[in-house]
Amino acid sequence: MNTPYGIQIAQFGNTDVLHYVPLRLPSLAPQEICIKHISIGLNFIDIYHRSGLYPIALPGILGAEAVGEIKELGTQVRNLKVGDIVGYCSAGLGAYTTHHHVAANRVFAIPDSIPASKAAACLLKGLTCEYLIRRCFPVETGQTVLFHAIAGGVGLIACQWLKQLGITVIGTTSTADKADIARANGCDHVIRYDYEDVATRVKEITDGVGVPVVFDGVGQSTFNASLDSLQPRGVLVSFGNASGAVGSITPGTLAAKGSLYLTRPTLGHYVATSQELRTSAADFFAAVDNGLKLHCNTHYALKDAAQAHRDLEARKIIGQAVLLP
Ligand SMILES: NC(=O)c1ccc[n+]([C@@H]2O[C@H](COP(=O)([O-])OP(=O)(O)OC[C@H]3O[C@@H](n4cnc5c(N)ncnc54)[C@H](OP(=O)(O)O)[C@@H]3O)[C@@H](O)[C@H]2O)c1
Repeated sequence: MNTPYGIQIAQFGNTDVLHYVPLRLPSLAPQEICIKHISIGLNFIDIYHRSGLYPIALPGILGAEAVGEIKELGTQVRNLKVGDIVGYCSAGLGAYTTHHHVAANRVFAIPDSIPASKAAACLLKGLTCEYLIRRCFPVETGQTVLFHAIAGGVGLIACQWLKQLGITVIGTTSTADKADIARANGCDHVIRYDYEDVATRVKEITDGVGVPVVFDGVGQSTFNASLDSLQPRGVLVSFGNASGAVGSITPGTLAAKGSLYLTRPTLGHYVATSQELRTSAADFFAAVDNGLKLHCNTHYALKDAAQAHRDLEARKIIGQAVLLP
């Protein structure tokens, strides 16, 4: 094997802390496989790990998601073979690498319909959409929902999937180009939250009623507007912090705004078992078969991960992006 390389951080901080270094892989555990990566997912959570918002052990290697070819099997691995193309998105960190050892029960096969060079763009985001709209708040045909950052990596997948399920989608975004792309992917009502008042617009669109659920991965800057966009007994699914972490909230606020519910889910808790992981992936791949398109037109060399982080933080990426080893 060529010398493995990866993006390591020795401290938390801005993109200066990202270093492309040679790695020494540990010996392969009996239940692990060695994967040579073909594409690596770029996710906002990578930024939280780099900055320390979600602290990781240091020195540490970033990356939660990748797709690649199996090069070696641990002695107890049975249902996989060398040469298989597999992916993972909930198997611990270390995906910003050329090669990685991963637990065999946390990987799944990638369908031929998704090229391996782009597949890492959509696993973490696709399975996130699955649990958000099918299990965390199971949407029902005919409902109207608000989904923030609709032209982002998660957002464009969610938008198309919600349309497949017969939902009216209200999406937020910050530029005219992103608004056009959201509409082209089925978004029924685009709110420009850079200059429009979100709750006021949602109330206009819903004849004063509000929506039964808001999916909010933006966090700090949208949190109050999300609460104010809900109908009584509505659910705020606060699943991310792209604009910064949400501060504290008292239970009385939920009462005053309409006996609201608030949940703060993470993918790991929804694909904790092998069975959940496989079912979630199968459900997502079925949505792809049903016409859901990836928007992965942006790619970076793995060693240029710093540029990828800068672009993601600066809101320059539309849809999904990958790092290529
Ligand atoms: N809890 C979970 O299980 C889970 C799993 C996956 C992802 N997530 C979360 O889902 C969110 C989306 O993830 P992603 O990887 O698909 O990222 P993304 O949506 O491609 O990028 C984040 C988007 O957020 C919007 N945004 C609003 N304010 C921002 C600010 N101040 N700085 C940067 N971006 C801002 C931008 O879109 P506009 O320009 O249109 O505003 C930006 O493009 C993230 O918060 C991520 O952590 C959570």
